[in-house]
Amino acid sequence: MVAITEILHGRHTGASVELKGWIYRTRTMGGKAFVVLRDATGVIQATIGKDKVSVEAFAAAEKALIESSVIVKGSVVADKRAPGGFEIRATDFRVVHFAEKYPIQEDQSEEFLLDVRHLWVRSQKMTTMFRIRDSTFKAVHEYFRGQGFWEVSPPMITPAGSEGGSTLFELDYFGKKAYLTQSWQLYAEALVLAMERIYYVGPSFRAEKSRTTRHLTEYWHAEMEQAWVGMDEVLKHAEGVISHACQIVAEEHPDDVVAVGRTPEFLKAVKPPFERITYDEALKILKSKGIEIEWGKDLRTLEERALTEGKTKPVIVTHYPRVSQAFYKARDPKHPDLVLGFDVIAGDGVGEVVGGSERETELEVIKKALLEQGEDPAKYDWYLDSRRYGSVQHAGFGMGMERLIQWICKLEHIRDAVPFPRTPARFAP
Ligand code: 4AD
Ligand code: MG
Repeated sequence: MVAITEILHGRHTGASVELKGWIYRTRTMGGKAFVVLRDATGVIQATIGKDKVSVEAFAAAEKALIESSVIVKGSVVADKRAPGGFEIRATDFRVVHFAEKYPIQEDQSEEFLLDVRHLWVRSQKMTTMFRIRDSTFKAVHEYFRGQGFWEVSPPMITPAGSEGGSTLFELDYFGKKAYLTQSWQLYAEALVLAMERIYYVGPSFRAEKSRTTRHLTEYWHAEMEQAWVGMDEVLKHAEGVISHACQIVAEEHPDDVVAVGRTPEFLKAVKPPFERITYDEALKILKSKGIEIEWGKDLRTLEERALTEGKTKPVIVTHYPRVSQAFYKARDPKHPDLVLGFDVIAGDGVGEVVGGSERETELEVIKKALLEQGEDPAKYDWYLDSRRYGSVQHAGFGMGMERLIQWICKLEHIRDAVPFPRTPARFAP
């Protein structure tokens, strides 16, 4: 048994192979059935000649509908006219399961395709993304492990949030209020004093009511935290991990990269350093483009789009105003109204892929910040122990995996960067 991608790379030309897969397209013409097969790696055409296989095999090929599961035996022939440059001349064709009439046809609405997502995951659009997503996840683990980080696991059920109450998912925990995690933030700052260099890739939850093309209510979060360093050191890791993901995707799936509308060269050029500007500089650039925003306001999609216009690499914005920033971000000692925080902003309308900062180390400053944000410091008392017992400089960031994949795959909507998207409007199938 071989994978279709191996055949498309010329590794079995002239050989007899057995392929297991599903019918992607099929038509019969002049005593021949042309069956396009798909497996996890790609699609290839098999030609089943009436005079080349048994009567039963040909009858099965004629009868089998789209998405029937099949086993094909035959020889691999290089043929420029065939899609992908190769085809299978079948010597045997067996149907494992005759599919019912498939509900998905061409030109169906986005809503319908979301209703039948459990079937749509078989489409070329989705399987191409799955392969790129797999390489992206692999690259993130590879990067952090390669840099001496420990993989640790935070809880998903939590007694308090870290990124503001408005996006917290509440749940009934045996009569008490609990929340789904928004970020490993509080746990990272406890664990970093144990393990110094830590990372994690897992789900985060945000009750984002806004319907945008870049927000999910459940997304995969790659987070890192490092002790004894400040913002600049972790910024290098943000550039490093994004670049590594782009390199690995370009190396492992050059054809898929072309299929999504990028090129391997584009991704390979995503190397550090990225352009770095401060929030104040960003405001000046925006003003020169005719966009005025009030100092202190967060950058919205419109502004992020303007800042990355014409850029092939993501852009880093640092030193945001302290107002409206999470309580744990460190003050800039030179400008106490700014934080030592940053966002990495990608182009093509994706926007913020990474958010991070150096963390405030002073107990009293954090307590005050919690109060200012309407939080009860008592609720965070266990977390504040990180500032009572051996507090050290530390910093970290979180990267939205689907945002990164959305950018790499040039996807219009973030929901197509994940198999089963959760958005305000839907959590099924
Ligand atoms: O900027 P955020 O909210 O930062 C944190 O949660 C920090 N505690 C992370 C850290 O320092 N460990 O979220 C981090 C990233 C964003 O930059 C974005 O890429 C992604 O998570 N993200 C979302 N992705 C998809 N859907 C959403 N609703 C997202 N909210 C944040
Ligand atoms: Mg953010």
